[in-house]
Amino acid sequence: MDEHGESNQKILLGITGGIAAYKSAELVRRLQNQSCTVKVVMTAAAEKFIGALTFQALTGEPVYHDMYQSSGDAMEHIELARWADKIIIAPASANFIAKLTHGLADDLLSTLCLAAEVPIYVAPAMNQAMWKNPATQNNISILQQRGIHFLGPDQGQQACGETGPGRLLDPQEIAAQLLTSQQSTQLTTGQRLAGKTVLITAGPTKEAIDPVRFISNHSSGKMAYALAQQALQAGANVKLISGPTSLTPPAKAELHAVESALQMHSAVMQNIQDTDIFIACAAVADYRPATVAANKIKKQADHLSIEMLRNPDILTEVCALKPKPLCIGFAAETENLLENAQKKLNAKNADLIIANAVGKNKEGVSLGFNAENNHAYIISKDHCIDLGSHSKNQLAHQLINHIAEVYEKKHTS
Ligand code: PMT
Repeated sequence: MDEHGESNQKILLGITGGIAAYKSAELVRRLQNQSCTVKVVMTAAAEKFIGALTFQALTGEPVYHDMYQSSGDAMEHIELARWADKIIIAPASANFIAKLTHGLADDLLSTLCLAAEVPIYVAPAMNQAMWKNPATQNNISILQQRGIHFLGPDQGQQACGETGPGRLLDPQEIAAQLLTSQQSTQLTTGQRLAGKTVLITAGPTKEAIDPVRFISNHSSGKMAYALAQQALQAGANVKLISGPTSLTPPAKAELHAVESALQMHSAVMQNIQDTDIFIACAAVADYRPATVAANKIKKQADHLSIEMLRNPDILTEVCALKPKPLCIGFAAETENLLENAQKKLNAKNADLIIANAVGKNKEGVSLGFNAENNHAYIISKDHCIDLGSHSKNQLAHQLINHIAEVYEKKHTS
């Protein structure tokens, strides 16, 4: 936007099939109000929900449908891709997201996306189960890694009568995010954390009781592995100190596999020296059995007591280093989320605490440990930002952006 808040950007709006397609008309108006020039490409499925004439009237331009029909120009897909400053697909169906992921080019919109060298934004809209399906979530993760930006989705009541994530983000919000996203465009393509080392703890720890038993928790490592992937995407060298998980670590991360809190502690302390950013996402056991029985403990008395010892607090120790890296901790709470997270920020002297609720959100979506989604708040000494409920991949994207911003501010002030 210029100094008058005007935009003057050339926006190519792709509309795919879905009931939310009618909201694209308002999006056109919102973009035009910011002095954008808008051209519209519709898929065949989109035209079953709203007529092309509506967009032709709104934009004063022909609406583009298929590869050869409008101008007879066989290179139209290339021309349209070159014309645009940004491409926004709104609404983007699950099917179109899958096509983008696999580079299919079987209609004008998918073909021009493949030919595009400008930023592509995707505003998904679909049924909540389709959104949560691992196939869709994997596709989104792959597209984000390629630098494609996701705007939304929103959550709430859906046209199908269900409630949950998958509603098209409000057109006003899509327009605002699209037009002010210059910085984040540079971020993903510009490798904002290039040359920086990010050390991330992940997953649960296992505290042995005897050769066959242990104390642990339900952390799956999903949140931390998503952060590792996004930090790599932003150009960082990533060291992942991971407790036991069933996940495949990102190929370019340096993995240090550990089991217990003591092993995690020593792996972190051995690797912390050249670390610029430390993210403690692991659910580290606070206590470990004082002794590990040499043999399997036999069932005898009615009661069994296990003496427990405090484990070292890794985050607190890293925060006490001089100089210390930028330190980000997590807090997963079942009650008084923000209050407890604030206490952890102060007690551990961390720069940020990411507070995430454990349980279900009001739409019944599982959050926190071993869930696909999280509802996260970024807490610092002077702010609390509610990022809302999203997939862990999406949250990781937002969190790495925010962390990079805090790091940059700290090192330029
Ligand atoms: O792994 P997932 O299934 O994806 O789930 C993600 C998660 C819910 C585990 C993650 O998002 C999360 O919240 N992790 C922190 C869990 C927690 O509440 O930890 P805590 O309250 O015990 O510790 C607070 C902070 O201190 C954390 O950053 C933790 O990593 C760190 N800590 C804690 C104890 C210890 N001995 N050493 C530490 O470094």
